[in-house]
Amino acid sequence: MNAVEIEEAISALAELAFDADEFPFAFLQAFGNKETTLRRLRKGESNKSDLGGVLQTSNIHIAVAPLGQVTKTLAKLKASPATIRAKAKFVLTTDGETFEAEDIVGGETVACAYADFPDHFGFFLPLAGITTVKQLRESSFDIRATSRLNRLYVELLKDNPAWGTAARRRDINHFIARLIFCFFAEDTDIFNGTGLFTATVEQMSARDSSNTHEVIGTLFRAMNTKIEDRAAAHIPRWADVFPYVNGGLFSGSPDVPQFSRIARSYFLHIGGLDWKKINPDIFGSMIQAVAEDEERGALGMHYTSVPNILKVLNPLFLDDLRARLNEAADNARTLLNLRKRISRIRVFDPACGSGNFLVIAYKEMRAVEAEINLRRGEPHRRSEIPLTNFRGIELRDFPAEIARLALIIAEYQCDVLYRGQKEALAQFLPLDAENWITCGNALRLDWLSICPPTGTGVKHHADDLFHTPLDQSQIDFENEGGETYICGNPPYRGSQWQSDDQKSDLGAIFEARTKNWKSLDYVAGWFIKAADYGTCTNSAAAFVSTNSICQGRQVETLWSLILKTGHEIAFAHTSFKWANLASHNAGVTVVIVGISNHIGRTRSLFTLSNNAISVKQVDNINPYLVPAANVIVQARATTLSDLPEMIFGSMPNDGGFLLLDAEQARECVRLHAVDPVFVRPILGTQEFINGIERRCLWVRQSDYEEAKRNAWLKSRFESVAKKRRESNRATTSKLGDVPFRFGEVRQTGDEVVMVVAKTSSEQREYLPVCLFPPGSIVTEAFALLDTPLWNMALIASRIHLVWIATVCGKLKTDFRYSNTLGWNTFPVPQLTDKNKDDLTRCAEEILLARDAHFPATIADLYDAEEMPADLRQVHDRNDEVVERIYIGRRFRNDTERLERLFDLYARMSAEQAAATKHKAGRTHVIGH
Ligand SMILES: C[S@@+](CC[C@H](N)C(=O)[O-])C[C@H]1O[C@@H](n2cnc3c(N)ncnc32)[C@H](O)[C@@H]1O
Repeated sequence: MNAVEIEEAISALAELAFDADEFPFAFLQAFGNKETTLRRLRKGESNKSDLGGVLQTSNIHIAVAPLGQVTKTLAKLKASPATIRAKAKFVLTTDGETFEAEDIVGGETVACAYADFPDHFGFFLPLAGITTVKQLRESSFDIRATSRLNRLYVELLKDNPAWGTAARRRDINHFIARLIFCFFAEDTDIFNGTGLFTATVEQMSARDSSNTHEVIGTLFRAMNTKIEDRAAAHIPRWADVFPYVNGGLFSGSPDVPQFSRIARSYFLHIGGLDWKKINPDIFGSMIQAVAEDEERGALGMHYTSVPNILKVLNPLFLDDLRARLNEAADNARTLLNLRKRISRIRVFDPACGSGNFLVIAYKEMRAVEAEINLRRGEPHRRSEIPLTNFRGIELRDFPAEIARLALIIAEYQCDVLYRGQKEALAQFLPLDAENWITCGNALRLDWLSICPPTGTGVKHHADDLFHTPLDQSQIDFENEGGETYICGNPPYRGSQWQSDDQKSDLGAIFEARTKNWKSLDYVAGWFIKAADYGTCTNSAAAFVSTNSICQGRQVETLWSLILKTGHEIAFAHTSFKWANLASHNAGVTVVIVGISNHIGRTRSLFTLSNNAISVKQVDNINPYLVPAANVIVQARATTLSDLPEMIFGSMPNDGGFLLLDAEQARECVRLHAVDPVFVRPILGTQEFINGIERRCLWVRQSDYEEAKRNAWLKSRFESVAKKRRESNRATTSKLGDVPFRFGEVRQTGDEVVMVVAKTSSEQREYLPVCLFPPGSIVTEAFALLDTPLWNMALIASRIHLVWIATVCGKLKTDFRYSNTLGWNTFPVPQLTDKNKDDLTRCAEEILLARDAHFPATIADLYDAEEMPADLRQVHDRNDEVVERIYIGRRFRNDTERLERLFDLYARMSAEQAAATKHKAGRTHVIGH
């Protein structure tokens, strides 16, 4: 169950009459416990309570208290030996009137009226295994509000099918945005009197809901009419108490959808929530899913959490503002200059969704400004940070609309926090009609016209948010001479997953610059546009991105273009797993990369390990996010180091007629008298990792005549020939002349083969490499032929895996191997005979350790969870030997491994280039 589903379940439980016997089980059920688990608890089989309650091991001890004895019962639960023995995380008790609970580990407590316990559901989320985002526990309100609005949205669409059509989607989205504003306004004194909006709708609309839409419509009309125009507009007295809001929010279509009784009751329920608690960054991200049919089931599960947003914004510019604030101490002039600087900073998120990056940036900047004002003795001073300096582009209209609302709410909340309720109210209404969020395609829009460098008028007319289309005002930025920070979490979309439109968005940007653009992720478009923008403005940019743009072949395509604009990497977070609201986080691995063309002396490289972030100041961060020179590793035809050639296996190109499964292979010998010398084991990546037996027909030119005498073989050859000749590729068709052999033959078939997997699960700690006797044929995998065993020790090492992962990149989540890009470029120090002997011994030990587990396959042996200890030990020993060759000790971490590898790579490539040049020079002289 996800957080929203849990909230709904416990809200439903709190609405039922309290049933003392049933409560503990119903509570556990609401947190996703299955019927079988509950049955075992009811029977007492798994119930460890010593107080007549329900105790679920490692989770919670619940006991219903006698009336008025809740606090006492909680103390008993805490002190109970069974609670301690069963390692319960929570104790909980209620008498149906009061509710108390304690988080035993963290020490936090909840005490409230029974009816209000759903307000604290975030507190109990660890019961459902949701622990990843601490912030979630503080977002109970946002989740509840989202889930309620979701229900209302679905109900309204049911009652008003026309509003669900593409033509009217905007109207319903706009309507929901207005409602959110009204709910917030009625709970924060923006409207006179608490709950005025909901109460007015409740009083003025019939219980059968028939005129609800008219009542709401009248209120909206009032909020769109200036006070002095109200009489002429015939605004009824009951609506006249509402202030003039407009700001574009209440202009446009006055339509309100029809409400059923259920929808009306949902509406009243939502109005009953305490909207003061809204957290605009989180709420916005969650609520946007309401408008997406396919996302509604996972409301807001994919939003960027505040800690992750700060990973972008802090190093981009907030850390610097805070450092300047520290330096300024109480110096009034320096503080004033800093305030001026802050008021001219623009933050621009060109894939802003519901504006969470902008809201967080705004709030953090307000905090710095408030501190300045405090130190200057002007605590209630009006903020000089204009909301219009927080700009966004968003493709979908609802999030774009919510983004603007979220910023308005954030501004109001900051005013209340730093200046007081009275001042905040005095300046809040009417809303500003200016629009800072552009609804459109960021890769097609001109960022310079949305954020012009001179700080003057905006040239771009976007589709409407709060205005009718193409009627958006042109507004001035108040940032003359200021800095612009571009940030966000744009859509990543790997090349195979892009829609035609997205492909052509990229094409429009990259086609004229590079021929390899088709393999770029969609997010690459944002990086290059930010770099282009930076060439004309005082700006820096940082985005969250999939790590694939900093690995493998995309590095050359994208980063050589970015570096060409004069931008370099100012800071980066190396790969980390994405955490969001979902209880089972999607396995996406991301990086954060900040680019700038005016970087100070050092750059910050952040790395997450063992749940702690460490930061290192380094001289450079290269496009692989390694603290080394800006080298881009390019595929090579020969090895850079003194290593043997690695081939890619032979390709049958046979229509399947030269390949056999194990049974077919036995049959062809037994039933069709095929000579077994023509039947060879064949190994592809899947076969050798999973121990699958496959065979192929392998006939040499000299044996062809003899082989053809066998009728079964002859018919197979004929089938191969036919298939090949059918091809419209001339080279394939020509292969019809040699149907006895593979299309591309890369080995004799008599070699000892050292096979290396073409792809391997990222879960494995080492790359799969195996040795097979002469006679084995390799296909769909890489291989070294008749090479010394010490090569295997290198391929099986951690340092090789790290190199491959970085320079070859991934295929989905698998490591992708390449001989030209990975093996041929792999930098290895000159090996001595002793080194080779040591490595040979390590490889032998690995082979022996594997043998000891016969018949376990590579997949079994290298399962991350179940790798046998003895095998792990010999690999560890191998790593020790390999790494000593590199630096005389073990590396501390992968960053250090990569640092060394890139240094060596740069040095060896430069030496080779110099040697080639020298040789060319000499040839030239001799030739003279
Ligand atoms: C990963 S979300 C990030 C949004 C928000 N910052 C968050 O964390 O929830 C990416 C956003 O980019 C928007 N988007 C996708 N393609 C776009 C495009 N070509 N131009 C502008 N926005 C786009 C999506 O609608 C989505 O809201």
